[in-house]
Amino acid sequence: MITIPYLTALSTYFSYGLLFAFGQLRDFFRKIIDWWQSGDLQGYAPICLGLEDFYIRRLYNRIQDCFGRPISSAPDAWFDVVERYSNDNNKTLKRTTKISRCLNLGSYNYLGFAASDEYCTPRAIESLKKFSPSTCSSRVDGGTTTLHKELEECVANFVGKPDAMVTGMGYVTNSAILPILVGKGGLIISDSLNHNSIVNGARGSGATVRVFQHNTPSHLEKVLREQISEGQPRTHRPWKKIIVIVEGIYSMEGELCQLPEIVAICKKYKAYVYLDEAHSIGAVGKTGRGVCELLGVDTADVDIMMGTFTKSFGSCGGYIAGSKEVIQYLKYTCPAHLYATSVSPPAAQQIISAIKVILGEDGTSRGAQKLARIRENSNFFRSELQKMGFEVLGDNDSPVMPIMLYNPAKIPAFSRECLKQNVAVVTVAFPATPLLLARARICISASHTKEDLLRALEVCFSST
Ligand SMILES: Cc1ncc(COP(=O)(O)O)c(C=O)c1O
Ligand SMILES: *[C@@H]1O[C@H](CO)[C@@H](O)[C@H](O)[C@H]1NC(C)=O
Repeated sequence: MITIPYLTALSTYFSYGLLFAFGQLRDFFRKIIDWWQSGDLQGYAPICLGLEDFYIRRLYNRIQDCFGRPISSAPDAWFDVVERYSNDNNKTLKRTTKISRCLNLGSYNYLGFAASDEYCTPRAIESLKKFSPSTCSSRVDGGTTTLHKELEECVANFVGKPDAMVTGMGYVTNSAILPILVGKGGLIISDSLNHNSIVNGARGSGATVRVFQHNTPSHLEKVLREQISEGQPRTHRPWKKIIVIVEGIYSMEGELCQLPEIVAICKKYKAYVYLDEAHSIGAVGKTGRGVCELLGVDTADVDIMMGTFTKSFGSCGGYIAGSKEVIQYLKYTCPAHLYATSVSPPAAQQIISAIKVILGEDGTSRGAQKLARIRENSNFFRSELQKMGFEVLGDNDSPVMPIMLYNPAKIPAFSRECLKQNVAVVTVAFPATPLLLARARICISASHTKEDLLRALEVCFSST
């Protein structure tokens, strides 16, 4: 739980109130002016309407230079950020040909595989020549190459499950697979801060969805007991099945999952555990095998292990790992397998190569060094930030470090000030976080050097 200092909460509410009031006032006058020259289609309902639209126009657009900044290089420890200018108070932004070389504190490049790598890159290029950028086909048609088979074996072996299935996108892995696993008459119990892909998958499944307080095993148990005793809505029949969904590392909080406790509770009540390791696979654990390895949980106790290749492996796509039976069933039924184009072959080769480096199968100790480095870098950076007096969320060993900003004025101020000093940071606000809890989110990489981190600390400090 984040406890906001009373005064901060007050001033944050006040700032949003002011922004909201002025926005409404401007909208009011705009409506009067537009009344006689409206370009809207006659008789149609407005296609963009509501609070989201207001928020985008009156709040987001005013600071949109802080978001979606184009880059023109790989997202390595340092990267090239394209400079932009605006002739209309940042309503529209135009690219220049100028770039500024910035220290990258924003990408999920935990192990540094997102940049050119001596082992992975030549192999990815080879596979590009041999297989082309796309299979132009779904897995069940012509889209299964030897690389896809190798990748699935490699992933199953890496995460410690009997079998695995890969899809072209991490987001789709959650949103397309949850509706296959559970439907009407089933119950999903979801952590309150689970990723949007899980939320959408759960909604699309038709199952009843209940939420438990973020990372709180005791509340999970309470919800489970209540729901089991209540049963299905109206009929009160027993639930057909119960799935509890959690994440390994929460990407907006930097927190590790309380997995041992949650697994114990799920066992007690015979609920399945679905673990999303998007941010933890490759990034934590002695050999990079994620939160199970880090927290000493047997992977046999986690029924469905999901993850993405877009972070530690520097590629794209997602996976589901589980028992042979579950994976076979998913391959017969999952739309992402049946109807969507399979993982791009060079992307698949990148993942296979990255896993080989992590496991030391490339014949070097680079993988082990990267894992040691991400841990040292993360723990060093976190403790230094805390020493400087920042309010940093999250746990030790997690490479994700949110710094709380709260006040809407601080979002662009912090982001712009850092960029001026050639440090690129990601700031996150509503709707990705609750309105009051805007933050900057630092992602540490194994490819950051000690000098990089010291410089980043200095800039973060001087920007607040
Ligand atoms: C927890 C979690 N699950 C799933 C995804 C979606 O993965 P992808 O970005 O690879 O589509 C993300 C992405 O950020 C995530 O944080
Ligand atoms: C537009 O963005 C720039 C940074 O790119 C910033 O310095 C400036 O204050 C912004 N202007 C307005 C009107 O918000």
